[in-house]
Amino acid sequence: MRMKDSFLWGGAFAANQVEGQYLAGNKGLSVADVVAASTVGVPRTISNTIDVDKYYPSHDAIDFYSRFKDDIKLFKEMGFKCLRMSISWPRIYPKGDEEHPNEEGLRFYEILIDELLANNIQPIVTLSHFEMPLYLVNTYGSWRNPKLIDFFVTYSKVVFLRFKGKVRYWMTFNEINETMNKKEPWLQAGLKFENDENPNEIKVIASHNMFLAAAKAVIIGHEIDRNNQIGCMVQYTPAYAKTTNPKDAMARHFYYIQNQFYTDIMVKGEYTALCLAQLKKLGVSLEISEEEKEILKKGTVDYIGLSYYFTYVVSESVGIEKKNEFLTQGQWNRTLDPIGLRLALSELYYRYNKPLFIVENGIPLDDQIDENGSINDIDRINFFRKHIEQIQLSIDEDFVDIIGYTTWGPIDLVSVSTGEMKKRYGFIYVDKDNDGNGTLNRTKKISFDWYKHVIETNGKEL
Ligand code: BG6
Repeated sequence: MRMKDSFLWGGAFAANQVEGQYLAGNKGLSVADVVAASTVGVPRTISNTIDVDKYYPSHDAIDFYSRFKDDIKLFKEMGFKCLRMSISWPRIYPKGDEEHPNEEGLRFYEILIDELLANNIQPIVTLSHFEMPLYLVNTYGSWRNPKLIDFFVTYSKVVFLRFKGKVRYWMTFNEINETMNKKEPWLQAGLKFENDENPNEIKVIASHNMFLAAAKAVIIGHEIDRNNQIGCMVQYTPAYAKTTNPKDAMARHFYYIQNQFYTDIMVKGEYTALCLAQLKKLGVSLEISEEEKEILKKGTVDYIGLSYYFTYVVSESVGIEKKNEFLTQGQWNRTLDPIGLRLALSELYYRYNKPLFIVENGIPLDDQIDENGSINDIDRINFFRKHIEQIQLSIDEDFVDIIGYTTWGPIDLVSVSTGEMKKRYGFIYVDKDNDGNGTLNRTKKISFDWYKHVIETNGKEL
């Protein structure tokens, strides 16, 4: 059986990591635009405004904004059935609270989406992928403030209407569950904390407002077009208990609960017992009105989008660790665990019984151009081969319904966590270094033809 004929093979990226031209067409600043590049040993710094002495990789990125036609040609050559992209919210609403959208921004995405369709590539759109308007953070306190619900819904409605009939698969917030996991979920939810704030409480309130915004967007998206398939998107990182000690099993179990908190609300449409247990564990209580309960119930998603990269090991004594004695460690300290993907898929499918869309998976490599000018990224081919094998097992043996597979960063792009360019994920190399130097020329890596063949054979030949 394996992949059905309609299986959506492709690649995925976010506007802020590829587009560049960060002020073109009246775009407003996004939260990504104020995250500076990292330097050796120093993580990326975040401010509420742009510091002229710092380098911001998203400002120019790989200039997909002006080069998208050529890049789409390359995606078409690889046989992409779809491309997961995001619409940059501040291109449509530069500040976020305006009455009318910015036509230039809408026009940009219209031309881009039409170009994809002309090349038989289905656009898969994330409404908010780490690039909410900075103005909403600085003026309204970001998702702490329920006013953002309407701003997001207005924005969503405008793009649902504009791209009606052109986009079928949508996702609301990228990796929304990282709001809880990150110490400072700046990119996920525009949050940094004041000294007198309880971070857990703010994260819960912000998440609640995002749940309501997402649910309302789902309701409106369905009203606008019954064919719209609107999903949530979570980072799904399964974990193993470190030992057979029951305390480690419980630690792993609590980790699992934390992972399902977001999907329970968006897929089941309610704060389930699992969610209430999680809130209790966080020491946070939340008032949920009857009206809000109805919105959550009505606005459940059609499918679950997930990113999968690696797995964790959990124990009572240490908490969460990346290192696993049974797995090899790749570059950037990544454990390589294809089986973890199968585990992720069945954990989600068996709990929710909703179609899954693997919208991110990939391996970062510091690819080098050899003396013949070629880029031999065999480690990437091996990585994908093993992961796709697990997806096939998941379909054949576990009966999981999978819509498609979009690899992260089919073309090299700016890394979110480090801001680097050399943390490369692509089948297509982009000539640009960590300091922003380079011609931006595109070169196919060895994996380009390999992935092309995988798509051509619908995964039969890996
Ligand atoms: C996911 C994000 O968390 O991981 C992407 O949705 C991100 O935006 C990707 O780029 C890979 O992470 P990084 O830090 O290597 O860019």
